[in-house]
Amino acid sequence: MRDFAGKFAVITGGGTGMGRELARQLVAEGCNVAMCDISAEAMAETKRLCEASKLPQGLRITTHIADVAIEGQLQRFRDELIEQQATDKIHLLFNNAGIGGGGSLFTNSREQWERTFNICWGGVYFGVRTFLPLLMKADEGHIINTSSINGFWASVGPGVSHTAYASAKFAVKGFTEALMTDLRLNAPHIKCSVVMPGHIGTSIVSNSRKIQSGSESERLNEVEIRVSRERLKGMGIDTAAMSDEDIQAIAADRARSFRDEAPTTAAEAAKIILDGVKAGRWRILVGDDAHKLDVRVRKAPEEAYTQEFYQSYRDEVGWKLA
Ligand SMILES: NC(=O)c1ccc[n+]([C@@H]2O[C@H](COP(=O)([O-])OP(=O)(O)OC[C@H]3O[C@@H](n4cnc5c(N)ncnc54)[C@H](O)[C@@H]3O)[C@@H](O)[C@H]2O)c1
Repeated sequence: MRDFAGKFAVITGGGTGMGRELARQLVAEGCNVAMCDISAEAMAETKRLCEASKLPQGLRITTHIADVAIEGQLQRFRDELIEQQATDKIHLLFNNAGIGGGGSLFTNSREQWERTFNICWGGVYFGVRTFLPLLMKADEGHIINTSSINGFWASVGPGVSHTAYASAKFAVKGFTEALMTDLRLNAPHIKCSVVMPGHIGTSIVSNSRKIQSGSESERLNEVEIRVSRERLKGMGIDTAAMSDEDIQAIAADRARSFRDEAPTTAAEAAKIILDGVKAGRWRILVGDDAHKLDVRVRKAPEEAYTQEFYQSYRDEVGWKLA
């Protein structure tokens, strides 16, 4: 798909981060956008930003509340889209919504684990199932599924449990790669891409925590403080002498630095993704850190989960994630 003008795009998780920037850049190119999120407020802000520059005549931006882990809510989103965008087809489907957290079978609850897995994997699977009929009706279509570097490297460092997110992101990658053949055989006018971002400066750390805890508070609750202490212990940091306020401060600083000190911004990431779609690439690595990790994991897969591998990679790309 060489240009997006006059097309219809669906974006899940359009409220903040990469979803918001995808919406802004698509709208700037004259593409109609229908987005969903669990936050009406965040989507209203995305819409406001999209409308800040003059829109082409008749272009539509619609917002829809839907939890991507619940198929019925995506189906309701699809029905609202058909009515509000006055179309029976879409050309672009960005399955972007995702959260982190819930990574341990031991220190997290089963609900937390499955919340992350069901959003990151279920959201992509249900998204494709729900919107495929609308893509089938377009003359050309493209499905863009957001995985992660955690779709080929199941870790964020040897001190942190990361099983829910990594298994979901591996599933997204495997599904999308297999989908290429299924589409080629059965719907050759539709292409698909798997997106694997490295560290991108977004609020995913604080957003994920809020979704996992079911609270809008910026402060950790008691259970989160305990889990944060475990996490720091796993990194070799003794928290015995630290007060709960110290732990709160460390968590707040981690969310801030994840957003503000990333090597790639959300806007840069969205541009890389859209350029990748235009170039017809099925495999879209986002950021220099993602490219470097891809090379390292392929070169030494047996080493990929050792402290030395992580340390040397971190030193090379300058990650400050811990
Ligand atoms: N930021 C990174 O470093 C990074 C790296 C690799 C992959 N990713 C992936 O990129 C995607 C976008 O993440 P981001 O960094 O822009 O995060 P973000 O938190 O800024 O944006 C994600 C959006 O999805 C929404 N969302 C969360 N759960 C939802 C649900 N159940 N239903 C509908 N919407 C929901 C959130 O409200 C938020 O608006 C995610 O799939 C994430 O896993 C991010």
